[in-house]
Amino acid sequence: MNEPIPQAATTGFQGARVVLFESRMAEAMARSVASHGGEPISAPSLQEIPLDRNRGAFAFAEKLLAGEIDVLICMTGVGTRFLIETLSTRHETAQLVRALSRLTVIARGPKPIRVLKEYGIPVTISVPEPNTWQEIVQALDEDSRSLSLDGRTVAIQEYGVPNDQLIRALKERGAAIVQVPVYRWALPDDTRPMQQAIQRVIDGQVQFALFTNAVQILHVIRVAAEQGLERPFRKSLKRVVVASIGPTTSDALAQCDVGVDFEPTRPKMGPLIDELARRAEVLVKEKTAAPAARTFPSRPDGSEPRALRHQSTFLKACRREPTSFTPVWLMRQVGRYLKEYRDIRNTVPFLELCKRQDLVAELTVMAVEKIKADAAILFSDILLVVEPMGLGLEYRAEDGPVISGRVASSAEIDRLAEIAPDESLSFVFDAVRLTRSALHPAIPLIGFSGAPFTLASYIIEGGTSKSFVETKRLMYTDPGAWRALLAKISRGLVRYLNGQIEAGVDAVQLFDSWVGCLGPRDYREFVLPHTQAVIRGLTPGIPVIHFGTGTGTFLKEMREAGGDIIGVDFRIELDRAWQAIGYEVGIQGNLDPVVLCGPRQEIRTRVQRILEQAAGRPGHIFNLGHGVLPSTPVDHVIAMIEDVHELSRR
Ligand code: CP3
Repeated sequence: MNEPIPQAATTGFQGARVVLFESRMAEAMARSVASHGGEPISAPSLQEIPLDRNRGAFAFAEKLLAGEIDVLICMTGVGTRFLIETLSTRHETAQLVRALSRLTVIARGPKPIRVLKEYGIPVTISVPEPNTWQEIVQALDEDSRSLSLDGRTVAIQEYGVPNDQLIRALKERGAAIVQVPVYRWALPDDTRPMQQAIQRVIDGQVQFALFTNAVQILHVIRVAAEQGLERPFRKSLKRVVVASIGPTTSDALAQCDVGVDFEPTRPKMGPLIDELARRAEVLVKEKTAAPAARTFPSRPDGSEPRALRHQSTFLKACRREPTSFTPVWLMRQVGRYLKEYRDIRNTVPFLELCKRQDLVAELTVMAVEKIKADAAILFSDILLVVEPMGLGLEYRAEDGPVISGRVASSAEIDRLAEIAPDESLSFVFDAVRLTRSALHPAIPLIGFSGAPFTLASYIIEGGTSKSFVETKRLMYTDPGAWRALLAKISRGLVRYLNGQIEAGVDAVQLFDSWVGCLGPRDYREFVLPHTQAVIRGLTPGIPVIHFGTGTGTFLKEMREAGGDIIGVDFRIELDRAWQAIGYEVGIQGNLDPVVLCGPRQEIRTRVQRILEQAAGRPGHIFNLGHGVLPSTPVDHVIAMIEDVHELSRR
């Protein structure tokens, strides 16, 4: 299906080198660039992979056949075809086509329309160009045949990265959303052409870079980062004319802090090359005259960055090796107590912030540098795993996180989707990679997740709770359902944390923030086996910090569940806690975060007391007993960290 080769333009590329990151249409594009007088450099940057065990899609099929779906939005042609083909491995195609034909079907552009036609599925609404989420929503709003979305269930065939803006707009109109991930992008098997193209950009041999899809830039940056070349690549790219096929791709480039110099009048490959060739000369002149100003805070990679981190005080303490001072970092060190955070947060909703890898990297690095902590923690949230389970997640200013979807019976628990992080949480992994490349090579990066109990409590209660009545009710009345829920969460957490490890975190922390509402017996019976399963499932060699609050009465059990370091809160004295845990594992803690809101001298006194309790034993990581509070003065945080360093020096 090659696109027609456009007519040669008057000006043309005049021998300029043009990097093409397109994969499927690589050859046609290269021919087209050559016909306009350019020298194409093909660097295919992705391949589309049908999911072998596409649980999200099969869960959609169940709902579809049960008549529980009202609207289907088909985002891409390839995706629509994959969806039907994948489902046809389990269900009869004719039956699927009948069920799909009963829905209001929205096609984002001509490609999904073509596929739907092939199967004889009527298209209710065709979305006009440039086919972004805005046009989809507008088409729905305007179409007189479409009923109100209020109370209807809308399935979205997703392409690669979920489109949060679309999802939010549909939810605002009262729709329930079913996300149907049907394929994911992977790096091509052979990344050498990408590596060569990156090198040629760095060497100043390239004048144009063409992006034809939103995922390409992520892959290109990833490959550059893996070679330790992200910084020079980004710098050199500023001297290259960056052309994007359309708004969605431009958005992705902007999110990665890559400026876009050119977009065609229509989001198609033909116009892209045609129109670009026509303006080539002018664009190159503009580019060399006025280079873009903003640079991403990337760092030069050390020759042996991992080795540098291996010798950091934080990772040494995780291994219980002696250090010249006690390392310190703070839970919630990236948060509202920092003006830099509030400034960004004023313009970007929290959940979106977590999904924007450029901002995640920026915030994570900013915080660790500002307060001079000895480790960075990825800016993210423990609750991100609930969306992939098929539940709704919102952060409200008044009542904190709100999780929607009932999880009270064993049938409802069975219906929760397995967490498949490679599809649904890959943005976290991308953020880890970007953060790692932006962070000083000697500073370790901590990844994290909630522990099974704390996550289950959020899911069951629908948000934050004081008494955990519903959580305990399920535990006591239907222990089988409880176990099924915790086992499902735990399986997902193993995949999620191992994904973070693979992406480059140096340690992981499990937050069991609310487990202290239980006593030792219940902890042993209802929590320990699940947390243990998570920790046992993690990639060996990466330290695990196992944190909980209110755990003074079952520290031994917590330790039995696992972890190289046990995190404790301020409700117990650190020396007693360590004694109870045993000195064969390390300890993290445990200054009361409220102390930071008090006088400076009191902070220093209490830091001193905790250090005395740790008695210089290897394996102590200084931290708060819980997260930094929003009202904390930043200078108190900075002073406290200096106190820890100074008072522990040996
Ligand atoms: O530690 C860090 O700096 C990394 C980022 C991080 C956040 N949440 C950012 C966040 C981490 C590690 C978390 C973990 C987390 N999230 C926990 C475990 C730690 C703990 O405090 O017990 C829990 C229970 C959550 C769930 C959560 N997220 C709640 C209850 C809330 C609302 C209350 C609050 O503190 O704002 C959030 C939102 C949240 N997570 C914010 C931040 C910076 C504030 C969001 C905002 O700006 O409005």
